[in-house]
Amino acid sequence: MDLDGLSTAAYIAASALFIRSLGGLSNPETARTGNVQGMIGMALAVGATALLLPAAALPLLAVVVIVGLAIGGTLAQRVAMTSMPQLVAILHSFVGLAAALVGFASQLGGERPTGPEGIIHSVALYAGIFIGAITFTGSVVAWGKLEGKISSKPLTLPGRHMLNLGLVITVLVLGVVYAMNPEHGLPVLLAMSAIGGFLGWHMVMAIGGADMPVVVSMLNSYSGWAAAADGFLLQNDLLIVTGALVGSSGAILSYIMCKAMARSFSSVILGGFGAEEGAAPAPPAGGPVGEAVATDVDTLVKELAAAGSVIIVPGYGMAVAQAQHPVNTLTKLLRARGIDVRFAIHPVAGRLPGHMNVLLAEANLPYDLVLEMDEINDDFPETDVVLVIGANDIVNPGALDDPSSPIYGMPVLHAWEAARVVVFKRGKGAGYAGVENPLFVRDCTRMLYGDAKKSVDALLAGLSAES
Ligand code: TAP
Repeated sequence: MDLDGLSTAAYIAASALFIRSLGGLSNPETARTGNVQGMIGMALAVGATALLLPAAALPLLAVVVIVGLAIGGTLAQRVAMTSMPQLVAILHSFVGLAAALVGFASQLGGERPTGPEGIIHSVALYAGIFIGAITFTGSVVAWGKLEGKISSKPLTLPGRHMLNLGLVITVLVLGVVYAMNPEHGLPVLLAMSAIGGFLGWHMVMAIGGADMPVVVSMLNSYSGWAAAADGFLLQNDLLIVTGALVGSSGAILSYIMCKAMARSFSSVILGGFGAEEGAAPAPPAGGPVGEAVATDVDTLVKELAAAGSVIIVPGYGMAVAQAQHPVNTLTKLLRARGIDVRFAIHPVAGRLPGHMNVLLAEANLPYDLVLEMDEINDDFPETDVVLVIGANDIVNPGALDDPSSPIYGMPVLHAWEAARVVVFKRGKGAGYAGVENPLFVRDCTRMLYGDAKKSVDALLAGLSAES
């Protein structure tokens, strides 16, 4: 087999591995294998591409690969789980920038085919630069908002939808100008990429903090389509396949997240929702009536000792407190006493899709105890004790019965239907959506104030002492 044949075979194997990797990532039990398959696929892809390069280019390739590996490896080691969305956002900006630069490199030095292939080449080049420019600036703004460097408040300029529409029409007109004379199209490309960069900046600036994770997965999708366009440009089948996989999986993920948060995709894109993080919560009309009642570890120990069934609802606070390991020990202890313990996972608990599943898997919690919202929501009325550990919005009954609530319509876990609900949180802090939670003042609810890890540790000590 010649080098071309060998690299084609490697490309097919890499494509298959990428598809298997995506399949593996859909379930915590197979996610690790999925990741490994993706890594092997990427190593094959880079190796097969290197085979096609002239020998003189290999030292340069080796240098950039080693530098890239060192930077990527260090970033991945250092990043806290709660900062993962920022990392993902900034990595998307690199993909966008790379896609745009490949387009410019092709314009400046690449061979330009003629006839129908020439048209495909021009369209791919133009689209790759445009989507790449939007992805680049949009992802930098998303990173800035998630990192707290840019205000998460939506920027709502008057007439912004008309402005965006006008800019898109201008880009289409410039596209026609470019297609008529692509050889001398560099000034057109520069103007179009400036508009694309502005559009990316403006569109993400208009989106509020609460919708940011959806935007990050949407930008992930854009980065895939920009890479696919570059695949046409470079006539690289693997880049087309990989770009399409990233583009479509990012779009599907955005859709799933919107559905779980009861937000329509268009309302996210058009922006405007999402209070500034850390802002005072806006109580719904009338606000929750009553006072939250605090409890203590000794009382909870007694309640758990008398319980036959317990549901644990983990949320963002469990991730912040890193309480997953003591929560796993607590589960073992309760089960050893014959108590039925299960976990209820809301699709948008935490700050990342699958955030809670990842944390619980890291703590080696048995997967069969972890149930999705739809699987467990009907079981709350027969449950003795619900432990809400660092969760807030996902157990807010206002989402069901308060039309004035910003999260009205979002499906939530019906924790309040249980006999006793104990909420582990540090104080009066609101959840991500910045709204009051009437669950905290329900008769069945008690508040166990304090850092979730410290509270679970104290509970473990109390249970051990009691037995
Ligand atoms: P949140 O509603 O954000 O509530 C977390 C609660 O944890 C806060 O009320 C906070 O109260 C408490 N907390 C923070 N640190 C703590 C600690 N160290 N110990 C104990 N408690 C602590 O979380 P949730 O219920 O998981 O809901 C997720 C929210 O994020 C939803 O609004 C969802 O729409 C949004 N969101 C999620 C995603 C994905 S994909 N997961 C995407 C977009 C948006 P205190 O400050 O009083 O402790």
